[in-house]
Amino acid sequence: MSSDHTSARIEPWGDGDLPLLERLLADPAMMAHLGGPESPERIAKRQAEYRQLGSRQYRIVDTDTGEGAGWVGYWHREWQGGEVFEIGWSVAPECQGRGLARAGAALVIALARAEHEPRFLHAYPSVDNGPSNAICRRLGFELAGPVDLEYPPGTVMRCNDWRLDLAAAAAG
Ligand SMILES: CC(C)(COP(=O)(O)OP(=O)(O)OC[C@H]1O[C@@H](n2cnc3c(N)ncnc32)[C@H](O)[C@@H]1OP(=O)(O)O)[C@@H](O)C(=O)NCCC(=O)NCCS
Repeated sequence: MSSDHTSARIEPWGDGDLPLLERLLADPAMMAHLGGPESPERIAKRQAEYRQLGSRQYRIVDTDTGEGAGWVGYWHREWQGGEVFEIGWSVAPECQGRGLARAGAALVIALARAEHEPRFLHAYPSVDNGPSNAICRRLGFELAGPVDLEYPPGTVMRCNDWRLDLAAAAAG
């Protein structure tokens, strides 16, 4: 599957993607807005979950190079008394600034939309995460407002609650 406006496609997360996950999650600079780098044990646990069939976790592939550039995925969560989807993304430093996260997110949003339930998809970037907030705005999410979330557990982070109505017409 590929996006029509940038050279990215998404592929199901696979067995060979642990090194990419480590590049994304063990790097202090990459995790500055996400509570700091994750431990090798936590990353291995994620890898085991992401590689499962139907995990809804994808590798973002730069179609110019054919290389894995990042991760995008979505999952169920409880939010304000109901069930929603949450989306997350991460792109390796050397691949940033070329629209890959936005393209990967747009492709995953199409998959979430095709599931029909739940209706709303949320993203909760830190209020300080300029690129992630820009991506939400560009993809047509509505800003519901700031919220304090515990992430990782034990640490309160000021985030923006961005909401996309998957039942509404797709953003252009
Ligand atoms: C967030 C992240 C995935 C963005 O990846 P990317 O491939 O560079 O993103 P894109 O190129 O698709 O889009 C970046 C957008 O942010 C904008 N941007 C970049 N730096 C910015 C800044 N400091 N402030 C505001 N906007 C900024 C870009 O102009 C672009 O918007 P545009 O398309 O409207 O011009 C990447 O920075 C990352 O992996 N960060 C670490 C992990 C992380 O924070 N994940 C998100 C958790 S919510």
